[in-house]
Amino acid sequence: MSGIKLLATGSALPQHVITNHDLEQIMDTSDEWIRTRTGIGARHHCRGEECHTSLCLDAARKALERGGIDPQQIGVCLVATLTQDHLTPATACVLQKELGFQEDTICFDLNAACSGFVYALHTAECLLAAAKRKYALVLGAEVLSRVMDLTDRSTCVLFGDGAGAAILEWGEDYPSLCAVMGSRGNRQVLMIPGVNTGDPSYIHMDGKEVFRFAVEVLPRCAKEVAAKAGISLDEVDRFAFHQANQRILDHAIKKLKLDPAKCTGNIAHTGNTSAASVPILLDQLVSSGQLRSGQKVLCAGFGGGLTWAGALLQLA
Ligand code: ACO
Repeated sequence: MSGIKLLATGSALPQHVITNHDLEQIMDTSDEWIRTRTGIGARHHCRGEECHTSLCLDAARKALERGGIDPQQIGVCLVATLTQDHLTPATACVLQKELGFQEDTICFDLNAACSGFVYALHTAECLLAAAKRKYALVLGAEVLSRVMDLTDRSTCVLFGDGAGAAILEWGEDYPSLCAVMGSRGNRQVLMIPGVNTGDPSYIHMDGKEVFRFAVEVLPRCAKEVAAKAGISLDEVDRFAFHQANQRILDHAIKKLKLDPAKCTGNIAHTGNTSAASVPILLDQLVSSGQLRSGQKVLCAGFGGGLTWAGALLQLA
């Protein structure tokens, strides 16, 4: 069996923090409403020179340094996102130049919304099997503050900016991710208009429908990954679920009868960072010693598309 291990992580959050109390000053909302409905207390927004590319570079450099990997060793670079600085070039191509990857490195961006990072993990696992070099840099990064309608209080209080990076190593005797993925085409529940639609590129979301979708797919996806890996959920050391809403997470934890101590999140401080949420959380788990060498973390995302994805990742 061949597969990948997680070698190192990095993350970057913009310096500017927006608390719920800051939002109270500019719209009809309250800290109490946001906390009880979502679990969110604050989020980070890019300001000034900070942008999608700068967050990616910051997170990627940390991961490369911590993993002791020279950029010349990278064979695959993927960025999961829906808010890149330009439609083209892909952020992954900009990273190739800025970080000094070889020109035959496979570089592209991937949009599977909030499931994007887990989709990218599996894509990297497949590509690395045939790649010349056995290391991949996979990022999830978003600047959702650029696609928020500040007059829509039911969406704009939820989202934040950030980037997370992971260095993956492929090995013939490494474990498979046992990835599970799916999509259910739907333009009504969650949509951001693209170029030439005549509409501003703001997030349109039917929160209640997303909630219903999430509580259906997240527990099922986690169960399917564990079944594919031939282990019970009790044997999983950590869970890194997409940080969309604490109530969705609490529902999944209860339904799957998980130990809450294995499910620590960061939504209170970062809000929902879409594709960046799982890798930012992974970095925080590794940096704080909550995920240690040899341990297994079950990652799962769900969101726009509608999409879902889960995978079991082992720390090298
Ligand atoms: N502050 C105060 N009141 C508000 C706010 C706000 N920010 N937003 C909405 N309200 C009001 C509404 O106007 C409504 O008032 P009314 O009863 O007088 O009409 C009331 O609060 C209830 O609104 P609902 O929309 O019914 O609130 P709900 O309990 O459904 O919570 C929420 C909304 C938080 C968006 C919830 O539906 C949710 O979390 N859905 C999932 C969203 C999600 O997970 N998205 C992430 C996936 S997508 C992605 O990551 C890109």
